[in-house]
Amino acid sequence: MKVCCIGAGYVGGPTCTVIAHKCPDIQVTIVDVNPERIAAWNSDVASELPIYEPGLSDLVFECRGRNLFFSTDVDKAILEADIIYVSVNTPTKHSGVGKGFAADLCYVESATRRIAEVATSSKIVVEKSTVPCRTAESMRAILETNSRENVRFDILSNPEFLAEGTAVRDLLDPDRVLIGSLSTPEGLKAQRVLADLYARWVPRDRVITMGLWSSELSKLAANALLAQRISSVNALSAICEATGADVDEVAYACGLDSRIGPKFLKASVGFGGSCFQKDILNLVYLAETLHLPQVAEYWRQVVSMNEYQKQRFAERIVRCMFNTITGKRIALLGWAFKKDTGDTRESAAITVAKSLLQEGAKLHVYDPKVSRTRVMLDLAEPGVQSNEAKLGETVAVCTDIYEAAANADAVVVCTEWDEFRTLDWQRIYNNMHKPAFVFDGRLLLDVAQLREIGFRVEVIGKTL
Ligand code: UDX
Ligand code: ADP
Repeated sequence: MKVCCIGAGYVGGPTCTVIAHKCPDIQVTIVDVNPERIAAWNSDVASELPIYEPGLSDLVFECRGRNLFFSTDVDKAILEADIIYVSVNTPTKHSGVGKGFAADLCYVESATRRIAEVATSSKIVVEKSTVPCRTAESMRAILETNSRENVRFDILSNPEFLAEGTAVRDLLDPDRVLIGSLSTPEGLKAQRVLADLYARWVPRDRVITMGLWSSELSKLAANALLAQRISSVNALSAICEATGADVDEVAYACGLDSRIGPKFLKASVGFGGSCFQKDILNLVYLAETLHLPQVAEYWRQVVSMNEYQKQRFAERIVRCMFNTITGKRIALLGWAFKKDTGDTRESAAITVAKSLLQEGAKLHVYDPKVSRTRVMLDLAEPGVQSNEAKLGETVAVCTDIYEAAANADAVVVCTEWDEFRTLDWQRIYNNMHKPAFVFDGRLLLDVAQLREIGFRVEVIGKTL
């Protein structure tokens, strides 16, 4: 059997690497239109792979050249494959109908058209990218109207539930694998083929099958529910700060109720990542197009609360630093949207940084996995080619935390990297302006220790 994956990104790369690792007899080819990305996947240096995920480079090096291949030859991989994963990006639309909410399906469409045009034998096409409900129907229409005679396509929905930073672990030991299909005999047969593939390492009872539309909607629903928990606890964090309650204690007390459970109740400066906001906005758009305005408004509020949380944190920083940060130096620790990834898409750090810059601060940014170029791109105004030189006057990206914090007035923690827990905070304090502030947006640091040193500490969801 041969598997092809179109799209060598955060989803396609790890997912199909794990398939190659678990199924040495299956040839897996991951293709992408971006030659730099493919070259990076073919690098022999772990740090040059295009994405950082704990454990991923070992699997790539084990399988690459054996039964795992990275290539720009999309057509050849399509021709040879029995199963084709479509794992391309589905960003939020920036213009046209549904602007700011709906998913832009142009990449899904072009990949699907390519499959239809190139394939000379029947294929199972697996929708892996997160897509709006009923996208499979559009894919089917494209495949059926553009394909050759006697070539049959069966479309399956197999949404990805991996979280970045734990992608390899999530793929090796998933809570569930979801496969949606049409309930036609051919659809069910294709569903069985994919279920058998996953059953090589996932217990059968965790491989769930259902209808196509339920499967597509389940992905959006799962992300909406997860994000809703974070927005709920973040809403409570504002009440905690105003009342003297402690959000950690409140979350702990609530999480002990077995109906609620303890996970995803960590208050924070706000959720980021490529999925939560995008998927909820997709759901909002879906509800609006179905003429369900109350439903749309309900989910929209989860995103609004997240925006409020990021803004609230930035405003608290200004307020605590005597209502002005003009010309003050602030060390911003963490730029990725969560620890153990170099991904910065929708990271709360970006919003916080932009607010602090607007107030006139000078930023020294440190993140163990994010490059200077990425930070500058994230801060650039949309549509503006490059204002890097101008940004460089107020933003420095450091490769050393102690250098980032030297002569700073405040340290702001935006990502929960483990290394921030074990810093030499006494050394940091000694080299900072006084009073020296720490703002912890991740409930990460040992507050008592920091206060003993002399820091003024402000933590999300607590009044100290
Ligand atoms: C998410 C889903 O978890 C995953 O199943 C789906 O496939 C893709 O979207 P991801 O965005 O990679 O995964 O990371 P996740 O661990 O869900 O974190 C998302 C954001 O929420 C991060 O910014 C994280 O810091 C934040 N978060 C998470 C909190 O603020 N509090 C929490 O309790 C948990
Ligand atoms: P995700 O987080 O969903 O994996 P990424 O943006 O990381 O999204 O990856 C998607 C990849 O899909 C990109 O590397 C992009 O170049 C690739 N891609 C988009 N359209 C096509 C296409 N038609 N054929 C091949 N690759 C594509």
